[in-house]
Amino acid sequence: MKTLNVDLGERTYPIHIGHNLIDSDLLGSVIRGHQVLLVSNETVASLYLDRVLSNLTAFEVATVILPDGENHKNIGTLDLIFSEALTKRFSRNVTMVALGGGVVGDIVGFAAATYQRGTDFLQIPTTLLSQVDSSVGGKTGVNHRLGKNMIGAFHQPIAVLIDTDILKTLPAREMSAGLAEVIKYGLLGDVAFLSWIEDHLDELIAKNPSVLSKAIEHSCKMKAAIVARDEREHGVRALLNLGHTFGHAIEAHLGYSGCLHGEAVGTGMVLAARVSHVMGLLSESDVIRTVSICKRANLPVRPPKGMTPNDFLEHMAVDKKNIDGRLRLILMHSLGMAFVEEQAPMAVLDDVLQACCH
Ligand code: NAD
Ligand code: GLY
Repeated sequence: MKTLNVDLGERTYPIHIGHNLIDSDLLGSVIRGHQVLLVSNETVASLYLDRVLSNLTAFEVATVILPDGENHKNIGTLDLIFSEALTKRFSRNVTMVALGGGVVGDIVGFAAATYQRGTDFLQIPTTLLSQVDSSVGGKTGVNHRLGKNMIGAFHQPIAVLIDTDILKTLPAREMSAGLAEVIKYGLLGDVAFLSWIEDHLDELIAKNPSVLSKAIEHSCKMKAAIVARDEREHGVRALLNLGHTFGHAIEAHLGYSGCLHGEAVGTGMVLAARVSHVMGLLSESDVIRTVSICKRANLPVRPPKGMTPNDFLEHMAVDKKNIDGRLRLILMHSLGMAFVEEQAPMAVLDDVLQACCH
């Protein structure tokens, strides 16, 4: 097992990465109180709930099984969690455990941030995307029909338990969505890692255990370092949103159920590369390289059919990164060197969207 730390002073917490961690004593040892509210969704619960529960017999445990899907990441679903916690008379010493992908993790994290003004929560991420990104860093929240992740809070978990064996049951399309976030780390800050991904992409897609563990570890290391420098996204953390401003627009346009988050991010990273190229930053071959790695990871590289430049601009206008009406974008000086463009060049953006939308 490997352990990394997210260094945040008194809120520092470990990320444990290893095999069969959901069967180990580690699970019980990181929980501080006696009460546990274990939240999962119907898909993940049918595969892993019993194994996790068998390690929690020393606690007073209640479970909430949510319907599966991004379209349930909303305020209504939160009520299921609060109602169960209140029905069981759980105190603020309860630990909320998120067993699932990023959707479950984000919802449970927000429930933990707000239930009785804040409880402990533990992340057991079960998708590649959640293992390399969403379980680390304390961004929690739900969607509003007018914008993705618009209702939320920063609330760090007490620990993240990454069981890499749990990915064995993850469908191929979800693996690709997770690879989008792995590729993101290479594009935003580590071109050597990008080359390593290119060299090992087939093994990653095939879930080669040692290659997968290395990708997860490196991604978590990069994310932990960025979060430790800028927990609340006043600066460098914004780079983690490479491809996300475009991606969130795509997700919102499709009503949060027409594509996977990682797929939208894949298209978003290609659009960010194209804008960077037209601005004279990235070379043509860098754009081709970005398109090629996303394509090889089975990610879409063009916006969904029928989505217009205007659809993009309308959704992008409500992005959380925007300040005082200016559209902020994460772009690249070069591959492996992303930056925050405080004022997106609207003419360039429009040209790129006109050329890519179909
Ligand atoms: P998800 O949670 O919807 O999971 C994807 C699918 O895989 C679901 O159907 C789920 O039931 C299934 N699944 C999960 N684990 C499985 C397993 N081991 N075996 C078989 N099936 C399994 O999607 P996701 O891609 O994990 O997360 C996307 C969400 O994460 C989005 O809502 C996004 O906004 C959020 N996100 C948050 C952050 C953050 O920092 N908080 C970062 C990135 C993404
Ligand atoms: N996924 C973006 C962040 O955690 O900041």
